[in-house]
Amino acid sequence: MKHVYFDHNATTPVDEQVLAAMLPYLRGQYGNASSRHEYGTQARKAVNRAREQVAALVGVQPVQVIFTSGGTEANNAFVKGAAAMLKPSQIAVSAIEHPCIAKPAQELARGGWTVRKLAVDADGRVDTSDVAVALTQRTGIVSVMLANNETGVIQDVAAIAEKARSAGAWMHTDAVQALGKIAVDFSGLNVHAMTLSAHKIYGPKGAGALILDKRIELKPLINGGGHENGLRSGTENVPAIVGFGMACEVAAKRMGEVAARLTAMRAQFERRLNDLGAVIFGAAAQRIANTSYFAFPGIEGETLVIELDKAEFAVASGAACSSASTEPSATLLAMGVAPEIARGAVRFSLGKDNTAQEVDEFLNVLEATVARLRRMTAIAV
Ligand SMILES: Cc1ncc(COP(=O)(O)O)c(C=O)c1O
Repeated sequence: MKHVYFDHNATTPVDEQVLAAMLPYLRGQYGNASSRHEYGTQARKAVNRAREQVAALVGVQPVQVIFTSGGTEANNAFVKGAAAMLKPSQIAVSAIEHPCIAKPAQELARGGWTVRKLAVDADGRVDTSDVAVALTQRTGIVSVMLANNETGVIQDVAAIAEKARSAGAWMHTDAVQALGKIAVDFSGLNVHAMTLSAHKIYGPKGAGALILDKRIELKPLINGGGHENGLRSGTENVPAIVGFGMACEVAAKRMGEVAARLTAMRAQFERRLNDLGAVIFGAAAQRIANTSYFAFPGIEGETLVIELDKAEFAVASGAACSSASTEPSATLLAMGVAPEIARGAVRFSLGKDNTAQEVDEFLNVLEATVARLRRMTAIAV
């Protein structure tokens, strides 16, 4: 494949060091981590080491790391597991959460919970005054993501957590898109629970974690042999967990250097985007360095993505995680973006191996493609 990949918020390639760490556990060291013999002991040691590596990246003790099959499961485990321990009241989630928070939250409504969507401003930041208003109602759970998957906008989770705690609620953050891109410190964020995923940080798909405050008790989503302190039964996916651990260790080492490089590349990218007449979403807010979300008014995002794909550049339109849908992005609508502009949304997300030359080549193709599509729409009108 010659394609240049600019869709790292959807997923990332597995890092060479991660793959090397995983391979022994896909070959000779295939033991079940619960077995008492040498094979099992080796697998258990590998899982424990990965637990330490994940814990180190977010500043917690290894016992606070509950391995899951990914971010989706960790988010569901928290929302459903917390709700089962509390008397139904209000669950407050931001209006821009990933569907794997928004949908489980919505499902709680059937169990007597009230779902309150927290408003965001025009730049995609959760409106803290709306949080204060929401929390005047009795609230059991608050969940606000640390970085948005579409805009890359970083939320002031610590400030929201402060309010949530004062109101007696449990505070969760989905840190899937922030991990490996900015420092993520569990205690500093002041949350009770946090979700992570391996495949967004050059780890394998199918591994993630829920990080839990030791004082929080959840009802397990998956019952069985009592793995992961009884919170997530099922034979551990040892190779994927090992890969996740290594991805965390590598991310810790290179995060500063990569973020600095990508910040410069995105600035170069957005300068040209502005000249070409694009609208850039969330541009005035603090964002993770790799993400640029934009639209060319009058041009469908889907069409642009398909045309760019033909020119061998991989970018995403709208909400990439559910890209089967053609509805305008709920995140952009929550930001007050007009539906006709939101339909033009294209997400460009850089990764550690992208180069300034690739960005330049992409910009040239983008400019030519936009000009061609504009001519076509002009004829159609
Ligand atoms: C913000 C956010 N949360 C959760 C997820 C889901 O994680 P996973 O793919 O590991 O289930 C994603 C994936 O796109 C995401 O962007």
